[in-house]
Amino acid sequence: MGCCVKKIDIVRRILGERWGSVPQSLDGKAFAPTNIALCKYWGKRNQELNLPVTSSLSISLGKKGASVALKPIADTQDAVVLNGNAMNQESAFYKRLVHFLDLFRHANTTRLAVDIQSNIPVAAGLASSACGFASLVLALNELFAWRLTTADLSILARLGSGSASRSIWQGFVEWQAGERRDGMDSHGVLLDEIWPDLCIGLLIVSDNEKSISSREAMQRTVATSALYSAWPQKVADDLITLKQAIAHHDFELLGQAAESNAMTMHATMLSAWPAVSYAIPETVLAMQNVWRLRQQGLPLYFTQDAGPNIKLLFEKKNTDFVKSHFPHVEIIELLFTEPRASASVTGLDVS
Ligand code: PMV
Repeated sequence: MGCCVKKIDIVRRILGERWGSVPQSLDGKAFAPTNIALCKYWGKRNQELNLPVTSSLSISLGKKGASVALKPIADTQDAVVLNGNAMNQESAFYKRLVHFLDLFRHANTTRLAVDIQSNIPVAAGLASSACGFASLVLALNELFAWRLTTADLSILARLGSGSASRSIWQGFVEWQAGERRDGMDSHGVLLDEIWPDLCIGLLIVSDNEKSISSREAMQRTVATSALYSAWPQKVADDLITLKQAIAHHDFELLGQAAESNAMTMHATMLSAWPAVSYAIPETVLAMQNVWRLRQQGLPLYFTQDAGPNIKLLFEKKNTDFVKSHFPHVEIIELLFTEPRASASVTGLDVS
């Protein structure tokens, strides 16, 4: 397959004879966690297939994420409900979701009722699309009994949103950029590591919808930032450091690499034209607080994605201290998929 491969070509290739089949059960249900990149994905080499310029590495956020329940309905349109509210068929959210579902079916067949429950703010830079598309793919896999490998599930989730390729598992996941033009080698891989003492704290400074989508911001950065050419090497270096840090549970090394990676990503955006900035004054205040506390000896680091919110990184033993300085912080309980016992959160076939 060459440069003009479409999403649907990939879907049909992965599903083979299963493409366009009828549901095998009365419903399909799944949960997927959202994930936070410690080494970011910023820039696509293929817009259609969401193929990244570089690899990236994330940690999934346990019970923070999205649950999807799918039911076939006898109707001419899909019905989408988000957190109990029926979505207007003219909304961008509805259209993006239905467009994705259309990849898996013949025209005018199998309309679905899609019930999404998300426990994170949508479109505020908390990777709501990551857990949204990952849970949707996992629920489709259940409903149609595809029994796909986790690598294939990750590829399908990537077609919805790049970072969704990492939300198929709990724990540390590397999204390997791959080299193929059809992206069949560009998917998440679960790292065989658990780190129960690692803590993430969400500092929600705003849950307003972000001013510019990550898709548009990435494209603009790649096209106009003079700093972008340095980004792939920065990622390559940070990935090595982060994997070492994770293997040795070296928290300071992890924190430094993750914070520096996030700052460099935002620097490339700031140098785009027109400049892209996701920070609001509260974002900068939170960063300054982290730097001050670190100078005072607290091993505390942060990362920031395509939104104003800050994610704190610290060790369990410092939880009370962090809470006392950030009273509104939400501490996330991390979960880890046992790599050897089951490489799949769904318990299905694993690759
Ligand atoms: O998958 P997208 O299009 O929502 O982009 C995600 C971009 C960042 O969150 C900023 C980085 C990342 O690796 O998740």
